[in-house]
Amino acid sequence: MSESIPLAVIGGSGFYDMPGLEDAEELEIATPFGPPSDRIRVGTLGGRRVAFLARHGRHHTILPSELPQRANFWALKQLGVERVLSVSAVGSLREVYAPGHLVVPSQLIDRTWGRPSTFFGDGLVGHISFAEPFCPRMRQAALAAARCAGATVHEGGTYVVMQGPAFSTRAESELHRAWGADLIGMTALPEAKLAREAELCYATLACVTDYDCWHETEAAVDAATVFETLRRNVAVSQEAVRLLAGALPPREGCACATALDAAIVAPRAAVPA
Ligand code: ADE
Repeated sequence: MSESIPLAVIGGSGFYDMPGLEDAEELEIATPFGPPSDRIRVGTLGGRRVAFLARHGRHHTILPSELPQRANFWALKQLGVERVLSVSAVGSLREVYAPGHLVVPSQLIDRTWGRPSTFFGDGLVGHISFAEPFCPRMRQAALAAARCAGATVHEGGTYVVMQGPAFSTRAESELHRAWGADLIGMTALPEAKLAREAELCYATLACVTDYDCWHETEAAVDAATVFETLRRNVAVSQEAVRLLAGALPPREGCACATALDAAIVAPRAAVPA
């Protein structure tokens, strides 16, 4: 595809479509990793071409550990996408991040297993830098958009990505807090790694739905609570996305755009016998 798409939005739980996406067409993309989570909708939002993908499928039929993440990112790259905003439900591990608030996290801890998390392998050896797992420019732009949308937004924080699908035990919740984690969710990895390998700018807009199960005066999280909180708050995330589409940061000079320059180990020349 020749024309680039400046922004893709991956909508998580409760965020299955993008109101205001005009003249949208639905694209079925084939990839070497099978089909993406759903057909990708491409249209115009905030005056920009924007792609939208429902992470769990539009009828929410895919578990976090079953997501075809490599297919999703392959398809977005193939479409010419440059930046990705991931919108995700998270539990809070800190009092200040209350249900209904938005957070733009700055760090990740990986507690997932068995999820294909790289495009490298099969003879192609590479190691991306991942000290800063999110694009700093996209983070600032997402923060500004969320504030303009009227949300209570927090800057930064460490998001621990758990395997699921069950929520944490109380002991795990306390462990994550002791590690310094602020938020918990099930989907930011391997997304962030695949985005970096695909040289896409990537940030997460995390929607706090609950206090997980560490909080003494709040009931332990269940799916019904998560979805009810999302239902009440999805409009503000959608407005933040609309504002972001009209105020994207420049790609020129952004390290995400050249992440592979120093990542790939060149194949060694065959040693003559
Ligand atoms: N998503 C929303 N709330 C969550 C929690 N408490 N743990 C893991 N993922 C979540």
